[in-house]
Amino acid sequence: MREFAMIKPNAVRRGIVGEVISKLEKKGLKIIGMKLLKMTSSQSKELYKEHVGKDFYEKLIEFSLSGPVVALVIEGPRAIEITRHIVGKTDPLKAMPGSIRGTYGLSVRKNVIHASDSEKNAERELKIFFDENELLNYELDYENDL
Ligand code: TYD
Ligand code: MG
Repeated sequence: MREFAMIKPNAVRRGIVGEVISKLEKKGLKIIGMKLLKMTSSQSKELYKEHVGKDFYEKLIEFSLSGPVVALVIEGPRAIEITRHIVGKTDPLKAMPGSIRGTYGLSVRKNVIHASDSEKNAERELKIFFDENELLNYELDYENDL
């Protein structure tokens, strides 16, 4: 199973990209695609198209375009549920302490990281940023790589 995630511009500006990725890595999730990029307006609108018309939509798009982001593709059993569990609830106030948003988030809009909410959306969203040949197949080896 594959999950798409995106570290938001405020996290890049705050210099916490490494810490955020670390939480995903330490859980045992495998990163099979990773890019630092500045989204285009059309990429952002495609990513957030389910939110068109909501009161927070314009500000969400504006914030998402305010600086570079880190796009990630994560693979593993139950990758979507596990990633969203580590990411935490949308509002950092409701996110569990220790989750990414619970640890680093303060406001709903600038909640540090995006993670796709279903297999269908994950596949759709990762294709906005990655070609299939940019997603790598390799083994994690915690025992033999010391
Ligand atoms: P949503 O898909 O509901 O949350 P999640 O990121 O947990 O899947 O919303 C997408 C993003 O929109 C969310 O990460 C932050 C922003 N947002 C707001 O700015 N205000 C809001 O009231 C909500 C619900 C979301
Ligand atoms: Mg969502």
